[in-house]
Amino acid sequence: MTHPLRLGVNIDHVATIRNARGGDHPDPVRAAQIVASVGGDGITAHLREDRRHIRDDDLQRIQDATALPLNLEMAATEEMLDIALRHMPHAACIVPEKREERTTEGGLDAAGLHNTLAPIVSKLKNHGIRVSLFIEAQERQLNAALKLGVPVVEFHTGEYAHAHLAGDSERTQRELRRIADMSALAAKNGIEPHAGHGLTYENVQPIAAIPQLAELNIGHYLVGEAVFVGLEQAVRQMRELMDEAR
Ligand code: PXP
Repeated sequence: MTHPLRLGVNIDHVATIRNARGGDHPDPVRAAQIVASVGGDGITAHLREDRRHIRDDDLQRIQDATALPLNLEMAATEEMLDIALRHMPHAACIVPEKREERTTEGGLDAAGLHNTLAPIVSKLKNHGIRVSLFIEAQERQLNAALKLGVPVVEFHTGEYAHAHLAGDSERTQRELRRIADMSALAAKNGIEPHAGHGLTYENVQPIAAIPQLAELNIGHYLVGEAVFVGLEQAVRQMRELMDEAR
């Protein structure tokens, strides 16, 4: 069965550009309002330990300025747990975080980190926050997510995106199959599968065609495109490609 596919727009890199000059322009809040005005389904923001893009006060301002659900990407730390419980976003996606990385380079080791994740997942869940784990599309990680009792997993599409960019069609197909198989397995086990990372106009459609996926979270490419065509048009075009693929 094919479900509607939501588009969550990650606005982190609007804040990256703002922070490059230390002022308040461009404001990620304005980006969130534009996303809402063109029918985006949610706002995704990653509050990193080093605050390199989104900052603490942005979270409240985003929540105040739009009615769209906020998906807070967060590391599994006490500091981030406190912030999540203070802001009560609609959803929290737990991601691995390394200070020196340029971006979230791989999935969370949900299997290896069970004891660290269990109390954080249960506190978020007890407060009514929809918890997701950002994992590789691997059965071991999906089983760990099942054991942790999360309602949602987001599959990391970075390897797929790399293979696609390299023009390696065999590897691209292999990565795609892995994400499709794990999406089907997640749905079969009652977990809602999402996907994201490195998605572009060129590579989004085979992912969007995976029938069990309920949400894609896309950021860097949309903000990059927005430089040329505006955020409104970039989100519209991504939405169209996603719809066409279903
Ligand atoms: N989903 C998650 C969990 C992420 O951490 C990120 C970015 O860090 C994205 C989606 C969006 O990735 P991109 O910016 O490459 O579109």
